Amino acid sequence: MILITGATGYIGRHLVKRLVEQGERPRCLVRDRQRAARILPIDKVEIVIGSTTQPSSLEVALRGVETVVHTAFMTADRKQSSQDHYEETNVGGTSNLILAAKAAGVARIIEISGLGTKPDRPGTYMQGRYLSEKMLIESGLHWTIIRPSVLFGKDASFIKGLTALLHSSPVVPLIGGGKTMFQPIYVEDVVTVIRKVLQDPERTTGKIYTIGGPEYYSFTQIFEALMKATHTNRPKVYAPTPLVKIGAAAMEAVLPHPPLTKAAMSLFAFDNTTDLQSVERDFGFSPMSFKTYLATQPV
Ligand SMILES: NC(=O)c1ccc[n+]([C@@H]2O[C@H](COP(=O)([O-])OP(=O)(O)OC[C@H]3O[C@@H](n4cnc5c(N)ncnc54)[C@H](OP(=O)(O)O)[C@@H]3O)[C@@H](O)[C@H]2O)c1
Repeated sequence: MILITGATGYIGRHLVKRLVEQGERPRCLVRDRQRAARILPIDKVEIVIGSTTQPSSLEVALRGVETVVHTAFMTADRKQSSQDHYEETNVGGTSNLILAAKAAGVARIIEISGLGTKPDRPGTYMQGRYLSEKMLIESGLHWTIIRPSVLFGKDASFIKGLTALLHSSPVVPLIGGGKTMFQPIYVEDVVTVIRKVLQDPERTTGKIYTIGGPEYYSFTQIFEALMKATHTNRPKVYAPTPLVKIGAAAMEAVLPHPPLTKAAMSLFAFDNTTDLQSVERDFGFSPMSFKTYLATQPV
């Protein structure tokens, strides 16, 4: 039995769909049954209502489970609230999951993390992501960590956010000059990687895989590709990072769904890239090109 945490999330729902197509009946940990019914093929999966921040719910979710694919994280593009907090979800939730998995006799956890995860100042978003990996590595369970670059695909949040900005803003703000590099990877390719990791525990256990698409793009180039795909043209404006940070803090203070958060700004501090051959070398297939996707799919 496979348990997917974060099954209603972007990666989770695509993984569930693939597993179901391949004849499996995964167990899905979800927080809200109605939301799950809108997003998941609920007659073809096992639904368990619970949260990684509620340890008692994990006991039921993990009963009879062999492998967990852990995607239940609070990502940097979301604003913290009284119910959802980066540290509580990403550190506390992962810690609860590991403890419950050990108690339930789970063999293996596959964690979907992010490129560039590294130690940072205590209490920061990045430090939480780092601790969530560290706890798993030191857990004594069999583990695999997958760190993708930014994702593209229908409704992918990064691309959707930038496209919305193109439609709503008279200018394109190039954060820090638009030089931060990305290596967009197609969501279906990330799912294929997870599938291969699931199928080959002997080779993939105890490994951290950094994965990205077949091309590097600067932030400016991503905007240019999106303008071409959406037939829009906006002047590009240099947006100094300290000013954007103040803007992000202000938007977070007043908007329920700010287009930019302070935590997301921390992801512009480094290039979001890995080896161009990462997927081909480690998983034996060629990932989709972002430009090819944009040329063939509506954005
Ligand atoms: N998407 C990307 O571009 C991208 C790129 C690189 C790395 N990643 C990494 O991949 C992982 C998954 O990302 P994603 O884009 O799929 O995230 P997502 O779309 O925001 O989904 C997060 C999922 O986690 C669930 N969740 C949040 N808190 C929970 C809790 N306490 N208990 C149980 N479930 C909880 C959410 O449930 P609800 O539906 O109830 O909110 C949702 O299903 C993250 O580690 C992320 O950093 C994503």
